[in-house]
Amino acid sequence: MPSQLTGPSHARPGLAAARGGCYDATGRHPPEDPRPMTRQSFDAARLAPLFAPFTLKGLALPNRIVMAPMTRSFSPDQVPGADVAAYYRRRAEGGVGLILTEGTTLSDQTSTGDHRVPKLAGERSLAGWRAVVEAVHAAGGKIFPQIWHVGALRRADRTPLPDLPSRSPSGMASPGKLFGAPATDAELAETIAAFGEAARNAMSLGFDGVEIHGAHGYLIDQFFWAGTNQRTDRFGGDLVARTRFAVEVIRAIRTAMGPEKPLILRFSQWKQQDFSARLATTPAELEAFLTPMAAAGVDCFHCSTRRFWEPEFDGSPLNLAGWAKKLTGLPTITVGSIGLEKDFITTYGADSHAGTSLARLEELARRLEAGEFDLAAVGRALLMNPDWPKLIRAGRFDDVVPFDREKLAALV
Ligand SMILES: Cc1cc2nc3c(=O)[nH]c(=O)nc-3n(C[C@H](O)[C@H](O)[C@H](O)COP(=O)(O)O)c2cc1C
Repeated sequence: MPSQLTGPSHARPGLAAARGGCYDATGRHPPEDPRPMTRQSFDAARLAPLFAPFTLKGLALPNRIVMAPMTRSFSPDQVPGADVAAYYRRRAEGGVGLILTEGTTLSDQTSTGDHRVPKLAGERSLAGWRAVVEAVHAAGGKIFPQIWHVGALRRADRTPLPDLPSRSPSGMASPGKLFGAPATDAELAETIAAFGEAARNAMSLGFDGVEIHGAHGYLIDQFFWAGTNQRTDRFGGDLVARTRFAVEVIRAIRTAMGPEKPLILRFSQWKQQDFSARLATTPAELEAFLTPMAAAGVDCFHCSTRRFWEPEFDGSPLNLAGWAKKLTGLPTITVGSIGLEKDFITTYGADSHAGTSLARLEELARRLEAGEFDLAAVGRALLMNPDWPKLIRAGRFDDVVPFDREKLAALV
């Protein structure tokens, strides 16, 4: 696992003039914030762009802060309980503009590898989700479920159905490592229909939209990635052909949702099986990859990166969300180490702690204001601080609790 720490801020003389623009004279984002912020000197007013309202396909959001989807495994028998509803309600009360729930799985039993991950099907689970939606709405929040199928990354031994074969494009979780048979056409049709069913359930529960989990090496991403998709039927082939499964999922979900509500697709270049993997190595490839999914009904791309400030392609300072917006014209969400000094994979390794970092918040605000992307998803900072938006807005930086992986043991 790579350990790519982000270093502390240091002054870069001459860059102060770049205030109001995002980039230094080389056309790249400065690797460190030009004017280091201390808790004493930092002026919270510079973060105002994070608190500007935004409308996502008719859905009015009070600010640009999105809760990133985060699996918590606190839903025994796949049923989210009152503690889960209270957990999300606290984020709505804390000022989060839009909540994306933890990944939630399908009626297709192969979609989950953890029986404490909630599903978006079945009477008891749906009743639990209804209480979550009501609690968030009562606090004035907006909430989308993240709909998820783990594919080949299913831990069958952690489910009540350990003998049920897992589904994947080519029987591989990682390139070259065969574990079973490729999913059949009939199995894929069942899975696609189950995505549609979950979206229909989401709408009937009053969710404000839907996010599809197409990132991080799970089922949809296993189709995107040449390393795990070696099919020769309509679901395999070049990068565009490898979007076909996602396109059919998007169409099924769009049909189930109707035309009105927003649909987000989350994707990533990196995979948990290979952090250096890339789907698109040029802007032209990224455009070819995203265009069919936008045409199928995606309203917003959620571009999962580990450090939001990193340029995606040589020769331009734009990050992945910046490119996705430029190439599709659709709104995008950026994510990765917002408010923290280390990225999330690092804090899953030997290093479980990440201190609060104000250094890049102003850069985030500048780039939002410049329109590079539209929304900013915050993960770990919100796990530790349900009221992170309120704290940041008020400049109460000393009250922000740093990230500590050990604290994930409780649903705070
Ligand atoms: C505890 C935890 C659980 C996560 N679960 C999910 C998930 O269910 N779906 C998903 O797309 N990403 C998941 N992620 C990734 C986050 O959504 C986010 O992209 C990542 O934490 C980077 O944001 P951060 O640096 O602000 O934490 C998870 C991250 C953490 C820390």
